[in-house]
Amino acid sequence: MNDLLLKQSNNSAKIEVFATAQAASEAVADRILATVRSNPKAVLGLATGQTPRRVYAKLVDAVKNGQISFSEATTFNLDEYCGLSASHADSFAAYMQRELFAATDFDGDKINLIDGAAPDMHAEAKRYAQLLAASQIDLQLLGIGTNGHIGFNEPGSSSDSRVRIVELSEETLNANQPTLIELEEVPGKAITMGIADILGAREIIILATGAAKAEAMRRSIEDLPHAACPASYLSSHGNVHWFLDADSAALLSK
Ligand code: GLP
Repeated sequence: MNDLLLKQSNNSAKIEVFATAQAASEAVADRILATVRSNPKAVLGLATGQTPRRVYAKLVDAVKNGQISFSEATTFNLDEYCGLSASHADSFAAYMQRELFAATDFDGDKINLIDGAAPDMHAEAKRYAQLLAASQIDLQLLGIGTNGHIGFNEPGSSSDSRVRIVELSEETLNANQPTLIELEEVPGKAITMGIADILGAREIIILATGAAKAEAMRRSIEDLPHAACPASYLSSHGNVHWFLDADSAALLSK
């Protein structure tokens, strides 16, 4: 079965459209596995949300089947809600434990997460910024918000933004509600890596699935880089790989 419907590349971006979300997710997982196989000490930038869950499931399977070890890899997560500690089920730290870390052999000392319950969030943002500045992300995995956000860089974010505290938009607050476990609504603020931090990665892979992401995909891939759609900044990076399913690619002109 060939699930790859379309493959297109120009100088800086590769776009692959798959028949299903599962096929697109497996291709992303394969890309991560290949990166860590060729460099076991790879530094991975990781994302949360519903979209990467199938990717993480495949990474978990690969570890269980003895096909890979992540013990030497380093990770940095993109973002975290302000006010939620790692023990809160709705925190991104808890998500990462559930979806990936608890069932794999990532070394806890090499996992970098933002502490959403730090007593001083400005100091926490500074701590994370310094950690990132001292590292080089080899492969950054991204999802995308329906409004084109990456990490929690909402529309209006500038291309030179770094780790900082941000206010979440109404659209994001609504879109993220179905993922909640204990809370009735998500916190209104978060700490996120900035656009410049994301663009500093050697390679960026972005996974988008489902019709709700189709308009964001069209704007991200076809519009000129613009603050109104933060994912459109990715086209200024030399090594971006878009993995889409047919539904999220439905509004692309070619
Ligand atoms: C959150 C995260 C993003 C993620 C987005 C989309 O806002 N901060 O990193 O890409 O959600 O989530 P989903 O994959 O659930 O649509």
